[in-house]
Amino acid sequence: MIPLVDVKAQYAPLIPELKERFSDVLESGRFIFGPEVEAFEREAAAYLGVPHAIGVANGTDALVLSLEAMGIGRGDEVICPSFTFFATAEAIARVGATPVFADIDPVTLNLDPDDVAARITERTRAIMPVHLFGRPAPLAELAALGLPLLEDAAQAFGADGIATTGVCSTFSFFPTKNLFALGDGGLVASTDDEVADTVRRLRFHGSRDKKTFELVGANSRLDAIQAAALRVFLPHLAGWNQSRREGAARYAALGLGEVVELPLDEPGHVYHMFVVRTPERDRLAAALGEAGVSCAAYYSTPVHLQPAMRSLGWEPGSLPETERAAAENLALPLWGGITEEVQERVVAAVTASGSVPVV
Ligand SMILES: Cc1ncc(COP(=O)(O)O)c(C=O)c1O
Repeated sequence: MIPLVDVKAQYAPLIPELKERFSDVLESGRFIFGPEVEAFEREAAAYLGVPHAIGVANGTDALVLSLEAMGIGRGDEVICPSFTFFATAEAIARVGATPVFADIDPVTLNLDPDDVAARITERTRAIMPVHLFGRPAPLAELAALGLPLLEDAAQAFGADGIATTGVCSTFSFFPTKNLFALGDGGLVASTDDEVADTVRRLRFHGSRDKKTFELVGANSRLDAIQAAALRVFLPHLAGWNQSRREGAARYAALGLGEVVELPLDEPGHVYHMFVVRTPERDRLAAALGEAGVSCAAYYSTPVHLQPAMRSLGWEPGSLPETERAAAENLALPLWGGITEEVQERVVAAVTASGSVPVV
């Protein structure tokens, strides 16, 4: 079976180096915070071009802590996409605020700034764009709407032009992400000194010194072992992202676009997922499964129609482009280092299914 993403193929050549770094952590006896985490935070901040990077336990906590540090809570509204992973809107609800869903641009699958503008009210406190599937959201257009941005960059470490516009930008290091840990991990990048300081306190029970607790926070830390792995991987990220971009170009060169609609390429896109569209998605998915090619719909039920969001009152049909994308998208195998031979087999299986592109 061809996997959707082969994480092990990416890290296998680095296992000797990982073992050495883990051995250093074992020798140090420091597993929580400490020099590995601090060094990773410095390296991540430099990579992203931001003044602050704060390691946390996962990408969901990164969103919750950022919202709290930005002072967002009960009675506030935050505009976000519905065509995203559930955690984007869940984080808004977790801090007591209301997620207000805006529709997406059907070509980029990212937030449509015009639809966002139409949903701004006097209660709107922030806009939360998602750099979906590794494609940068239209940050300049969204920033021009005059509200603070919180970038959900869980899927886009290394994408061009991200993380320097938002007050905070959040990352997930779930093992399938472009930059990944060997377990859970996350990061808040921030352009704002005060907000960053608050995130730093919130991730450790609202305390700077473990003695005085100034805020009600959380226990949300990045482990030294994960930071050590992330430090091994970070120097390889640009190469992995380049390989993903080459894989996407190769799918086009192999003629995949004659059978399904391909994602529009852009220089900054880092292809966390390679997501195609076809009105016959379910038939294609079944045919690929039989042909031994993994694929997955991201996301087949948009967030506004999930049971947990029912109390917000969104009806089917309220976000047409989001709902159409949810019915037509299909992620095909792609990872840093994917081979031409694997991609040829994927294209052959898609072609054999007889799917037709979206018109
Ligand atoms: C867009 C988006 N936001 C948030 C998250 C949450 O990250 P985590 O799983 O690390 O909590 C993810 C990934 O899972 C994601 O894809």
